Amino acid sequence: MSTMTEPLAERLPPWRARIERALDAALPSPEQPPTHLHEAMRYAVLGGGKRVRPVLVYAFGEALDLPPERLDSAAVAIELIHAYSLIHDDLPAMDDDDLRRGRPTVHRAFDEATAILAGDALLTLAFAHLGEAHSGLDAERRLRLMAELAAAAGHAGMVGGQALDLAATGQSLDLNALEQLHRLKTGALIRATARMALICADETVARASTALEEVASLLGLAFQIRDDLLDVEGDERATGKKSGADAERGKVTYPALLGLEGARKRARELHWAALDLLEPFGQAGEPLRQLSAWIVEREG
Ligand code: IPE
Ligand code: IPE
Ligand code: MG
Ligand code: MG
Ligand code: MG
Repeated sequence: MSTMTEPLAERLPPWRARIERALDAALPSPEQPPTHLHEAMRYAVLGGGKRVRPVLVYAFGEALDLPPERLDSAAVAIELIHAYSLIHDDLPAMDDDDLRRGRPTVHRAFDEATAILAGDALLTLAFAHLGEAHSGLDAERRLRLMAELAAAAGHAGMVGGQALDLAATGQSLDLNALEQLHRLKTGALIRATARMALICADETVARASTALEEVASLLGLAFQIRDDLLDVEGDERATGKKSGADAERGKVTYPALLGLEGARKRARELHWAALDLLEPFGQAGEPLRQLSAWIVEREG
């Protein structure tokens, strides 16, 4: 991530190293049968990626004075769901993309059936992981994390948003409908990064910090607006994805509705609104402020 200053630049490498280790440990061994399935799961999850959602879990945790150990299982589970959503998003029946993270998409590197199954297996692994007792979280918290992630990932969250996205392809949508679509397909999981950190926190601290959920909601929408912009003006070497795919496919996007400058302005407004909400968090909110700035400026 470019243009970052302390303390995010200091936090990011250990947070990233931490999530890479935890994901590697959570995934099945590639030597264990069915090896093809396990290789596809590992290819999808361990093949790069910005790890924005786990990093946000840790950053919301820092704002709540939580150590990363308490957040690992939430961070892993949300990234597993995200990886599954990307595999299925790239399938021929959906966005039909060949390139992801600078490499062939899972159905290209393996085959379509394996890609579908690898997605299914990552989705279920996320919940199995949250249920395990190793997290140091009590059973009630683990249950609440599962319910939270299920709601964010399912028909009323990411999957619902993907259904709206597909239904809107080749159609026209107004800005309110597009905002709702983005808030579901991408916003719901990003909002869950804050809600899951709040579940892991001490109840008194969590009650005083509900603004963080709104921060995550703003960042989730901003993140997808930037993704839409990068599809138009991004460099494939930085994004690892084919540029121009949205317009080619007739996707409804922020730049399509508002123009490039209009979309950039909307993303900046969301960032400023997040900064206002983060004001009371002082130094503990600094990584989140910097992540918010990065989300609207990122090149990859
Ligand atoms: C891509 O997500 C799909 C969207 C929701 C915009 P990311 O941009 O977080 O993808 P990776 O994980 O870094 O590859
Ligand atoms: C995907 O949105 C959101 C998901 C739920 C995976 P996009 O279709 O815009 O994501 P990219 O551009 O393929 O990464
Ligand atoms: Mg899509
Ligand atoms: Mg896509
Ligand atoms: Mg996109």
